[in-house]
Amino acid sequence: MRVAILCLLNLLIGSDGWSDHRKRKFPTNFLFGAATSAYQVEGGWNADGKGESIWDKFLHDNPDLVADGRNGDVASDSYHQWRRDVEMLRELGVDFYRFSISWSRVLPTGFENEINEAGFKYYDNLIDELLKHEIQPMVTLYHFELPQPLQELGGWTNPLSVTWFENYAKLVFRRYADKVKFWITINQPNTVCMEGYASGIMAPGLNSKDVGGYECAKNVLLAHAKAYRAYQTEFKKKYEGNVGISIAVNWFEALSNTTENNEAAERARAFEFGLYLDPIWSKKGDFPDLVKKIVDKKSTEQGFKTSRLPKLTAAEVKLIKGSADFLGMNHYTTFQVQPSQTQFEAPSVEDDRNTEYTQGPAWRAAKSPWLKSAPYGLYKACLHLNLNYDYLPIIITEHGWSSDPGLEDQDRVDNMRGYLGALLLAMEDGTEVKGYTAWSLMDNVEWIAGTSERFGLYEVDFESEQKTRTARLSALVYKHIIESREVED
Ligand code: NOJ
Repeated sequence: MRVAILCLLNLLIGSDGWSDHRKRKFPTNFLFGAATSAYQVEGGWNADGKGESIWDKFLHDNPDLVADGRNGDVASDSYHQWRRDVEMLRELGVDFYRFSISWSRVLPTGFENEINEAGFKYYDNLIDELLKHEIQPMVTLYHFELPQPLQELGGWTNPLSVTWFENYAKLVFRRYADKVKFWITINQPNTVCMEGYASGIMAPGLNSKDVGGYECAKNVLLAHAKAYRAYQTEFKKKYEGNVGISIAVNWFEALSNTTENNEAAERARAFEFGLYLDPIWSKKGDFPDLVKKIVDKKSTEQGFKTSRLPKLTAAEVKLIKGSADFLGMNHYTTFQVQPSQTQFEAPSVEDDRNTEYTQGPAWRAAKSPWLKSAPYGLYKACLHLNLNYDYLPIIITEHGWSSDPGLEDQDRVDNMRGYLGALLLAMEDGTEVKGYTAWSLMDNVEWIAGTSERFGLYEVDFESEQKTRTARLSALVYKHIIESREVED
């Protein structure tokens, strides 16, 4: 208790939160990694039999959406530069590399009866090269890229998507279970569903504001759980791998200590991540009561015959509950929450949630408009997870910072040190964190921001033929942190 109070005091002192300049050490078995995703780095969008994904289509159809016009057609060209990527990982000295498999590269139609062997060959090479250098592959099965033919059947709002994903997952498990020990089924369901099907700023760009996002949330959770159970049944005993899901758990706190703001912060947490965490990790194993209460009530008022939030049956609750070996926590920033000051169009997820977010005016700002540095938020988010989900095991599967091009990225370094310090405090206070992943290994296509927001430890020269990669200051600092297992703030 005394330690907890001291830690909290540390967090509250000073605008950056840290004043004692302590050196803190990570346990020797703590794992450090770096991450990318297929669409964001691979390029080769139609190479060697790859099929079209929803991101290929979304950005081909809407070229003006992309901030600087650079879409994922070529991206960082990792489809050809993967040897250099592994070399960079070796330079950093990471324990693992988190990357994703492009579903349409290996199954061009999305269905498992038509395999693109050349696509698999790419991942065979990458995985073998990693293992040759004792870098563990951490494979994400779904990082925002549904095969377009499946979208034409309704995508994640079609209940059959559960089986499509399960079949794809099984195929990939079968191929790589002997080599891959860390699996992530789905990356950021909230982004997949609410930004893909409700607000429409991510592919497939649909804005069926009222129900699409919720239907997607249910199907994505079921798809994840089916894949998890399939791994448990067929592969776990023999290969002893771990399967998790990556959820965006940024911190949402009340803008000020009023009842309205506290309630708004609670709604934000329930809608932004409780919706996905509760079914897997809460005691009850269902959507959060708060979300059910709000959406059920509004649906009735709006004249819907049944709630816009689908129900989970007892069998579905059972399937989803406990379906993860770890939480992949993607954490970038903190938001300060109040009830929305403007009336949202209704019915919609935004209206259901009814929140508005700001950030501390003094916090250091990254290039992305939503990203500001507030390390204490990671500490608080960890405590929240511990309290609500009983000290669940966590791997930080993403954390990072965006900037302009340039090698002297002191801001990224400061941000990383600050957050690693906060993580160590959370661990001292009992949070079970097994590893940390820097987003990103290299500059890449930040979705509709194109390459205008650089997240890389390595800078990529997008004008050059080879997409030349150069280490930033942050890469050197990260290498030192990994080597020493120590962070000094
Ligand atoms: C989360 C997403 O998983 C990743 O694709 C994205 O680039 C980063 N956040 C930064 O926005």
